[in-house]
Amino acid sequence: MFIDTHCHLSKEDYDDIDKVIIEDKEADVDKIVVSGCSREAIDEVMSFKDKYDMVYVTIGYHPEYADSVRKEDLDYLKSLLAKKKIVGIGEIGLDYHYTKENKDKQIWLFEEQLKIAENFNLPVVIHSRDATQDTINTLKKYKVKGIIHCFSGSLETANIYISMGFLLGIGGVVTFKNSKLKDVVKELSLESIVLETDSPYLTPVPFRGKINSSKYLEFIANFIADIKNISVDELAEITSRNASSLFDFNR
Ligand code: NI
Repeated sequence: MFIDTHCHLSKEDYDDIDKVIIEDKEADVDKIVVSGCSREAIDEVMSFKDKYDMVYVTIGYHPEYADSVRKEDLDYLKSLLAKKKIVGIGEIGLDYHYTKENKDKQIWLFEEQLKIAENFNLPVVIHSRDATQDTINTLKKYKVKGIIHCFSGSLETANIYISMGFLLGIGGVVTFKNSKLKDVVKELSLESIVLETDSPYLTPVPFRGKINSSKYLEFIANFIADIKNISVDELAEITSRNASSLFDFNR
């Protein structure tokens, strides 16, 4: 049984959500942790968690909304956190890929949400793109645990995050031909890894070009199991255990 620790689910991307859920289950996926990271997406994923057993959610504002999120939006986020099946805050973080002109606002939004995570004792799902050093420095200021989602950095960076108590979310990128991530994953302890698809994005080989979904998790898992020279069942067991020790699925 697999757990997809990070994906997105929206009617904008999938015509038939019922079908997506059925296919995920058929592909031996037990739970999916769906991230709602805009005001609209938060409301949508909240409805999915109530409708589908296998859906758990993390909610929080993605750094791409740093210019538009207001205090009211943060209050709204807080007002939801006592509800069932909300297992974390995310994805939150820093993204300097397209712009770092609003760096201060991004850091403000990130820190506000780290404070919320700390206060509510919830894990965080971190998005960090071209912003490793600021992400590390910011995270060090708070007592939070969580996942570095879509990790694709160096072994050195991996070890810093691991020493801070974070898990690394490994997804489709590891299967990409030109990615160096497989060499890094090879060196990592299995206890530090969780699986994710980040669907509808980052579809693994051999389905690149198609829309991603949690049903492809087994292809990511097979790839990693090969690298680590263990059976896919063993990999599923260890990574699911890692995910379950971070996220409280009884909430
Ligand atoms: Ni994502």
